[in-house]
Amino acid sequence: MQDATTTGIGASRFSGTGIHKRFGALSVLENVDFSMGLSEAVGIVGPNGAGKTTLLATLSGAYPPSAGTVTFAGRDVTRQSAAERCRAGLVRTHQVPKPFSGMTTFENVYVAASHAVNNRDEAYQRVIDALELCGMLDVANRRAETLGLLDRKRLELARSLATGPKVILLDEIGGGLTDSEAQELVLTIQELKRRGIGIVWIEHIVHVLLQVVDRLICMDAGKIIADGDPQTVMSDPHVVKAYLGGGPK
Ligand SMILES: Nc1ncnc2c1ncn2[C@@H]1O[C@H](COP(=O)(O)OP(=O)(O)OP(=O)(O)O)[C@@H](O)[C@H]1O
Ligand SMILES: [Mg+2]
Repeated sequence: MQDATTTGIGASRFSGTGIHKRFGALSVLENVDFSMGLSEAVGIVGPNGAGKTTLLATLSGAYPPSAGTVTFAGRDVTRQSAAERCRAGLVRTHQVPKPFSGMTTFENVYVAASHAVNNRDEAYQRVIDALELCGMLDVANRRAETLGLLDRKRLELARSLATGPKVILLDEIGGGLTDSEAQELVLTIQELKRRGIGIVWIEHIVHVLLQVVDRLICMDAGKIIADGDPQTVMSDPHVVKAYLGGGPK
């Protein structure tokens, strides 16, 4: 029998509806509604502490929402773990890269691939493809803890890619990099977009972000304050005041 939840418009969307997140008495997300097509490229900006990482963590399954629903490709995944969502094609990178030390670049990516596929040859091929796409074949045998920041960021990306995502959530993958280093990551992320992988990218380096995304969301104090065409959002008076005007970044 056909599953009605995986057909129709919802089947090609990723959404969070009425998302609240509280940590004890602290309310970090307040009634956030987020929705994107599975092949869209969406940027998220906003001042420090706006709740961007918390939104990503809630959507990816790292934290359960205090209220609200997350649906992915027509299925309600609100109660699914991050590992289950990853197997369904939804994966995130971390703001601070978290490679397994003591393991090589290759082994780090292999761990991710083997979570997604049981067949060893297929997992191996996924690792090679991910390392090639991220320009990491030459450091495949280096231990992860010896990698510089750009390579650790690339490793975050390669580990996510090896899981075969439909949508990838990037948390400040360009953070701490020079402009030319960030530019190298842009080329890889543009290639992911060409391959039809959906992208949600939190980034403070706006001119880098705008080379990839077709749509921009600005968050402030746990809420979405603007959502739409990037140039329109960047000139929105609320965005200028909350993000571009007074803050340190
Ligand atoms: N696990 C947690 N426990 C308690 N408070 C938290 C937790 N995670 C985040 N917060 C708080 O939630 C708020 C939003 O944090 P979050 O990391 O989502 O912001 P952000 O928009 O990603 O900021 P940045 O641009 O600095 O990365 C902050 O006040 C933060 O201290
Ligand atoms: Mg953050």
